[in-house]
Amino acid sequence: MRRHLLSAADLTRADAELVLETAEEMRSLADRPIKKLPALRGRTVVNLFFEDSTRTRISFEAAAKRLSADVINFSAKGSSLSKGESLKDTSLTLEAMGADAVVVRHWASGAPHLLANAGWSRSSVVNAGDGTHEHPTQALLDAFTMWRHLASGTGQSLDGRRVAIVGDVLHSRVARSNALLLKTLGAEVTLVAPPTLLPVGVEGWDVETSYDLDAVLPKADVVMMLRVQRERMNASFFPTVREYSRRYGLDGRRMSTLQDHTIVMHPGPMIRGMEITADVADSDRSVIVEQVSNGVAVRMAVLYLLLGGSESALGGPGDASGGDDQ
Ligand code: NCD
Repeated sequence: MRRHLLSAADLTRADAELVLETAEEMRSLADRPIKKLPALRGRTVVNLFFEDSTRTRISFEAAAKRLSADVINFSAKGSSLSKGESLKDTSLTLEAMGADAVVVRHWASGAPHLLANAGWSRSSVVNAGDGTHEHPTQALLDAFTMWRHLASGTGQSLDGRRVAIVGDVLHSRVARSNALLLKTLGAEVTLVAPPTLLPVGVEGWDVETSYDLDAVLPKADVVMMLRVQRERMNASFFPTVREYSRRYGLDGRRMSTLQDHTIVMHPGPMIRGMEITADVADSDRSVIVEQVSNGVAVRMAVLYLLLGGSESALGGPGDASGGDDQ
């Protein structure tokens, strides 16, 4: 693993598989009476959030605490960040506090890259979502969830699995990171959206695209629904909510056209009744709640590997080796 995790493209297939295997070990901790490991004792992880977040921030906090790190939560509201302090000054402050890892969410695409590459700090930087650009740990937790459902048993791989990512691809950092990581892991991705919600240049993403959800669903092994990100929209991208739901929403009727093994995912927050109906979100096929718990295990694995862990995290005869050799 490299020192930073800024993009899903930073991960080779071997890196990604190492994260998934380490996450599997971390997940087994949840079944132990004491859910804590000493692996990052004495290390400091700072959560630097310039944008609202529930799941991701709590998930990183839980992950760092389960590895016994000291955690500092730093959010834009109520700090000098809201007074216009620059990213550089914030970074120098964190450096002075001895942060070993900085988990950053920012409304500006590229902010974590600036933090990592401007030479202001020696910490590892983890991108927890930058603008409409990337969200690599979400892609890892999504891949981990798919892997647990579809790749257990022979081969342990997502090779040839078909993943449909549906909705507001244009504004979604989740879609971009998933497309990159899933290609690395050998899956086939189809982006399904109205023409107005597909990014310019999507031809270069090495994925299929479709405007027709009904045609894609019966072939998919995974259906990942995306939220319509109104807060990032400065124009009207579809006629009405009703029209959007009718063409691109997942409801019970559409769900009945899926194969028996197909799972339904959503990164959250969901808008029930818009991109997904309540009966689908709460159905047996939905792994949405599991995605959240898998997020903690995956973020534990990422923090552990970035901060130098190279042996089996749980101290057994290690099969999670190689964490510091790439
Ligand atoms: C996503 C995000 O923030 O990019 N959510 C998340 O991290 N769980 C998707 C979204 O906001 O719709």
